[in-house]
Order: sequence, then structure tokens, then C-alpha cells
Amino acid sequence: MTFKIAVLPGDGIGPEIIEQAKKVLTAVGAKFNHRFIFTDALVGAAAIDAVGDPFPEETFLLCMESDAVLFGAIGDPKYDNDPKAKVRPEQGLLRMRKQLGLYANIRPVSTFKSLIHKSPLRPDLVDGADFVVIRELTGGIYFGEPRGRSEDLKKAYDTCTYTKEEIERIAKLGFEYAAKRNRRLTVVDKANVLATSRLWRETVQEMAPAYKDIEVDYMFVDNAAMQIIQWPKKFDVILTENMFGDILSDEASVITGSLGLLPSASVGIHTSVFEPIHGSYPQAAGKNIANPIATVLSAAMLLELSLNLKEEARTIRDAVDKSMKAGIVTTDIAEGKAYKTSEVGDWLAENL
Ligand code: IPM
Ligand code: MG
Repeated sequence: MTFKIAVLPGDGIGPEIIEQAKKVLTAVGAKFNHRFIFTDALVGAAAIDAVGDPFPEETFLLCMESDAVLFGAIGDPKYDNDPKAKVRPEQGLLRMRKQLGLYANIRPVSTFKSLIHKSPLRPDLVDGADFVVIRELTGGIYFGEPRGRSEDLKKAYDTCTYTKEEIERIAKLGFEYAAKRNRRLTVVDKANVLATSRLWRETVQEMAPAYKDIEVDYMFVDNAAMQIIQWPKKFDVILTENMFGDILSDEASVITGSLGLLPSASVGIHTSVFEPIHGSYPQAAGKNIANPIATVLSAAMLLELSLNLKEEARTIRDAVDKSMKAGIVTTDIAEGKAYKTSEVGDWLAENL
């Protein structure tokens, strides 16, 4: 079959890691008789530099007419250090999520046996940890209105809002994920303080009886932040709102030992987007040293979730496991020789 994939490399190491994922996808295509048509488009700081807009209309239209979107990373230090910049790369990401209706961000956290000693946590705490964070992605404080500054500029405000419908559609996904996994759903909120969190809790409580075989528990976000580090193995599916999910998923990602390993999917109304959870790592840009595995595994998620190519996805994951065992890895996780980004990509493409 033929599939159209929109490719948004973005900033920093984005282009280098995306290149490896394309290589691997092309090799999978050759093996299983699929053709992937890749079309590149601008996003982030690269798009601001080229056309003055971090998510140009052209990029949006390409995403809409594609079967899936493969996304690299966005962000550039020249904007991070300038809080007054009017146009920012991150706005591109947020607009992409909103315009494509990507209300759910799915971040699986699992460990690689061969890397457990790289985790900052004790091996016995980490070995076997396997959970998924489902983060609401188009609501909450990231998008709520009003937001801004008072006229005298001495006050600033953001607003956190959620509607019942927004909570229901993501909670449904949470229950469905739990049903496919170990049937435990942990709802993370701050219901002791926030009205939006109380609506989350109320809504999930109303839905729970329809999913009798799922064990639901509720945890305040501060407590969850602690428990994820203390007992990562106790979690199965974590369901949470936008900003808590942003924070907890970064926290969760260090459990595995390298940020460079974890993929993610953003799904919702229109075309789904697949991207590594790490950022644009500007210090490494152009050096051919960044770990491409998170992006390659995002490509595997793309095959599975958007194109329903499960065996093809498994083939990629198996090749990644093999590469780790064989020590064909980049400097962030290498014990002995460190391989270049492109060498890891080549090896994976040749060893599917
Ligand atoms: C993420 C990132 C983004 C977010 C930033 C870059 C706007 O941290 O995808 O988690 O906060 O959602
Ligand atoms: Mg984040």
C-alpha cells in the first residue's frame, strides 16, 4: 500500500533524527511492500526564520491531507532567552495541536533491560516499570482565556478551563487504554484546590461504572510526582490534564535512563502526530550525535496507530532491541564505542 506521511523536522537535532526514522520506514516499506511518500514542511523556529510563522498554513494543509505526521522537535535558544519575542516556535506546536484537534498525547514509558543501570533510580525500582501517560493536550491552562497582562503590565494571568466534553473524550481513551493493558487507571489532579480538577474527578467517577473491570484511583499531582519516582512499577495508565501531564511525562521519562528513547503519539480529530518526547537539543544540532531511537520508535507508533501496520511496527521495535543489545548506540547511552546518529539509523535500516 501507499501512505502519505507529512514530515516536520523542525529545529535543532530535529532534521538529523527525522532522517533516521525515514530511513527505517523506507526499509520497512521495502520489506513489507509498502510505499511511504514523505513530504517535508516547515515548523517551529525554522518556519519563523523562513516565512515568519511557526505553523504556516501550507504545513497545516499538508498535515490534513496526509495519513500521519512525523515530527522532529521545536525550540531555539534565541527565543527561550527572549521572553518579549512576539512570535515563538512553541506557538507553532500549540497551534498544530489545536488545529488538528489532537486532544490526547500518549507517552508510553517502558524500560530496556540493557539500560536499567543508566537510570538515576535503583535498578530494582525500575526493572519492569511499564506505564503510559495520557495527557490532555488541547485544553487547560495552555489554551484558556483570558490570558495576558494588565494595562500597567504589573500583573499577568492565565486561565485554566475544561468542559465536561473535553474531559469525557480523553477519559474514554484512558479507560480504553487501561482495558488493553493491566486495567488500572490513575487519574491525576489537584481536586483539593482546583475547580477544573474537581470536574475531572466528578466526570471520571460518573464514567467509571461503565468500565467495571477497570480499577480507578485518584491521586493529587504532588503525591503522584513523588510516587512515580518511588514506585514506578505500580502505575499502568496515568490520565491527566494538560499541564500536569507535561510535567509528569518529563519526570517519568528519566526513569528509563535516557530522554532519547521515548516516543509519543498525539491523537484526536484529524491526522495524528508522532514525535520523540525530547526537545530540540540545540547544543547537539548538526553534530550527528543525538540519539535517534525515540524518533524511530515514534515511527513505529505511527505504523501501529495511524496505518494499522502492527507487524511492521513490531519489526522496528525488535530491531531497536537488537541494536541496544549489540551496543550500536549513541554517546548518551554508549558504554564503549559511541555510534553516530546516522550510523545507528543505517544499522537499524539494514537489520530489520
Ligand atoms: C511538550 C513540550 C511542549 C509543551 C512545549 C514545547 C510547548 O514541553 O510537548 O511536552 O509544553 O507541551
Ligand atoms: Mg513538555
